[in-house]
Amino acid sequence: MYDETLRSQKEIVLCEDGTNTLYSKEFDEPYHSTKDGALHESLEKHVKPSFTIKKENEQLTILDICFGLGYNTFATVYYIKQQKLTTKVHIISPEFDEGLVRSLATFDYPKEFESIKPIIQAISQNLYYEDEQFKIEILLGDARKSIPKIKEKIDIIYQDAFSPAHNPLLWTTEYFKDVRAVCKEDAILTTYSTAAAIRLGLYENGFYIFIHRAEMMRYSTVASLNMLEDVEYIDMELKKQRNTEAKSMKDEEC
Ligand SMILES: C[S@@+](CC[C@H](N)C(=O)[O-])C[C@H]1O[C@@H](n2cnc3c(N)ncnc32)[C@H](O)[C@@H]1O
Repeated sequence: MYDETLRSQKEIVLCEDGTNTLYSKEFDEPYHSTKDGALHESLEKHVKPSFTIKKENEQLTILDICFGLGYNTFATVYYIKQQKLTTKVHIISPEFDEGLVRSLATFDYPKEFESIKPIIQAISQNLYYEDEQFKIEILLGDARKSIPKIKEKIDIIYQDAFSPAHNPLLWTTEYFKDVRAVCKEDAILTTYSTAAAIRLGLYENGFYIFIHRAEMMRYSTVASLNMLEDVEYIDMELKKQRNTEAKSMKDEEC
C-alpha cells in the first residue's frame, strides 16, 4: 500500500526536452519519461491527440489522472491559449499528495508556462481555479474513491498514473470500469502505456484501441468509446487470438 513517510521524498530531474520533473521515492519512478520530456510528453501524448480528435467540441470536460506536477493540466491551458481556441474546458484532477500540489507555486516550470503563472499559483493555494474559459479542480484523496463520486460526464481522460508495475491499482479492469462509468458515450482516453494488459483492461470496458504516433516520441495509446477515423486501429480480438497468455490486471492481484 501507499507509504506516507516516503511521499515527501522527491528529487528534481532534468528531462531531455529541457523541462524539469521529479523522481518519486515512494513509487521509485520519475513523474515523466525523462527521455520524452515532461512538457513534450504532455503535449504530444495527451493534449494534441485529444484536441485533434475533439476539435469540434465547444466545451470539454477532462479527467486528468493524476495531477502530480500538473503538466497535463497546464499544458492543456497553454495549448488552448497558444492556438487561440475558444473551447471552454473543465478539468477535474484527482491527487492524494496535497503537499506536492501546495509546493507547485515555486516549482521551476518551463518558460511556456510563464503566462499562466497566476493559474498555477491559484491551484497551488486553493486547489481550484476558475475564469470564463477554464475551471480546474483538484480532487484531494485517493483516485479510486474520488472517481466514482464524479457527477460530471467526461469527454477526455488523461491516464497518466505511475506505471502499472509501480501503481497497479490505477490500471486494473475494475479501475477502468469506474472510469468508464463517468464517461460520455464518445469519450476518449490517452495514455503512455502500450502494454497488452492495459489495452485489454480498456477493451474489456468498451474502449476501441488505437496507436498514436508523434514526432520524436515513443508511440502511445488512444482509447475511444467510438470508432475513430484517421488513427491507427488495433484489432483487440485478433491480438487476443495471437496472444492467449495476455490478461488484464485485476484488483485482487494488486
Ligand atoms: C506520474 S505522476 C502524474 C504526473 C502528472 N500527470 C503531471 O503531468 O505532472 C502520478 C501521480 O499520481 C499520484 N497518485 C498515485 N496514486 C494515487 C491515488 N491512488 N490517488 C490519487 N493520486 C495518486 C501521485 O501522487 C503522483 O502525483
